[in-house]
Amino acid sequence: MIPLCIPEIRGNEWKYIKECLDTNWVSSAGKYVDLFEERFKAYMESSQAVVTMNGTSAIHLALQVLGIGKGDEVIVPSMTFIASVNPILYVGADPVFVDVCKDTYVMDVSNVESLITEKTKAILPVHLYGNMVDMEPLMELAQKYNLYIIEDATEGLGSVYKMNDETFKKAGTIGHIGCFSFNGNKLITTGAGGMLVTNNIDLGKKAKHLSTQAKVIEENKAFSHDDIGYNFRMPNILAAMGVAQLENIEEYISAKKEHAKVYDEALKNIKGICLSKELKNENRCPWLYSLVIQDDFGKSRDELILEMKRNHIETRPFFQPIHKMKPYKSFRCGDLSVTEELSSKGINLPSSVGLKKEQIQKVCEVMKLGL
Ligand SMILES: Cc1ncc(COP(=O)(O)O)c(C=O)c1O
Repeated sequence: MIPLCIPEIRGNEWKYIKECLDTNWVSSAGKYVDLFEERFKAYMESSQAVVTMNGTSAIHLALQVLGIGKGDEVIVPSMTFIASVNPILYVGADPVFVDVCKDTYVMDVSNVESLITEKTKAILPVHLYGNMVDMEPLMELAQKYNLYIIEDATEGLGSVYKMNDETFKKAGTIGHIGCFSFNGNKLITTGAGGMLVTNNIDLGKKAKHLSTQAKVIEENKAFSHDDIGYNFRMPNILAAMGVAQLENIEEYISAKKEHAKVYDEALKNIKGICLSKELKNENRCPWLYSLVIQDDFGKSRDELILEMKRNHIETRPFFQPIHKMKPYKSFRCGDLSVTEELSSKGINLPSSVGLKKEQIQKVCEVMKLGL
C-alpha cells in the first residue's frame, strides 16, 4: 500500500518522550511545552507562540482573542477542511464563503472585497495543500477596511511568501495571527496538536492566558479566574514529540519539494491533467501533491481514485464545498463555481515525507493506465 501521507519519525522522538515517562512529566506542565513554543516561534521568526491541543482549538483561540463574536462576519473559503469554519460558529459569528482560484485552489483575493460589509471583522485565508494565498493584496484589503487576518496555515507550514518590500515571510506570520495543526498527517506531528503564532505581544499573552483556563495565581490562594478560559493545553509528552519533529523540519520540507518535482516532471505533458500553479512570489512546501483531472483525461477523477485503490495506492478527492452542507447552507456567499468544479475534479496524490522515487513512478504509471 502506498499511503496518502503518513508521519516521519526518524529523530529524537523516542528519547524525549521516554524522558517524560521516566520523570513523570507527562501532563500539561513540563519543560517540553515551553521548549516547543520557544523553538517554534524561533523557527517561524514570530514573537509569540502558544501551543494548543489541535489546530481547531488554535483557530478558535485566535477568533476569541480578537474579540470576534455574535453579529460579526468572517470571510473564509468554502474549499477547505471544516476546521477552518467551525470555530467561527463556536464564537457565535457567521462565516461568509468566498471562491478559490482555479490553479492554486486557495482564496481568490479578487473576490473578497465585494463580500465585505460593516459586519465583517476578519478574513480567514487557508493555505490549502501547501499553496499560499496571495497575501500582499489581502493585507492591503485588511488595512483598507480595518479587518483582522487569521491565517489557517495548518497545511502551509514550510511555505514562504515574498512581500513587496522583498522580505520573505513564512506562512502563518503575515496576518495578525497564524494557526497550525500537528495532526498525524501534517508536515510535523505530535499525534494531535496545534500552535498559534502572532507578533502582537498582547494577543499572544491573552491567547496563552485563555488557553490555560484564564488562571490567576496568587501566593497561598487557590486559583481564581478572570475570564472564561479553555483547557487547550498540550501535554508535555506530545510537546516532546513536537520538539523532536521540529529538529528535522528542513529535511521534511526538502523531501516534499523533491517529490513534487518528480511528480511534475512525470505528469506535466499528459492531456487532461492540470497541475497546480505556484505564485511568482511564493516558495511553497507542497504538503499534499495536488492536481485537477479535466474532462478530456479519459477517465473521471472518481474513476481514477478507484483505479488507484485497486493498485493499492491511497489518494484523496479535494474537499467537498462546505457551503452546500446542511449546517452551513444558510450563510452568505459569493459565486462559488470554481470551488464546486475543483471539488469534483481535484485529487491529492501520495505525499509522505518518506515516499520513495519508485513509489512516485508507480503512482504516475497507474495514472496513465488505459490512456
Ligand atoms: C486546513 C485545515 N485547517 C484546520 C485543521 C485542523 O487541525 P486539527 O485536526 O489539528 O484540529 C486542519 C487539519 O486537520 C486542516 O487541514
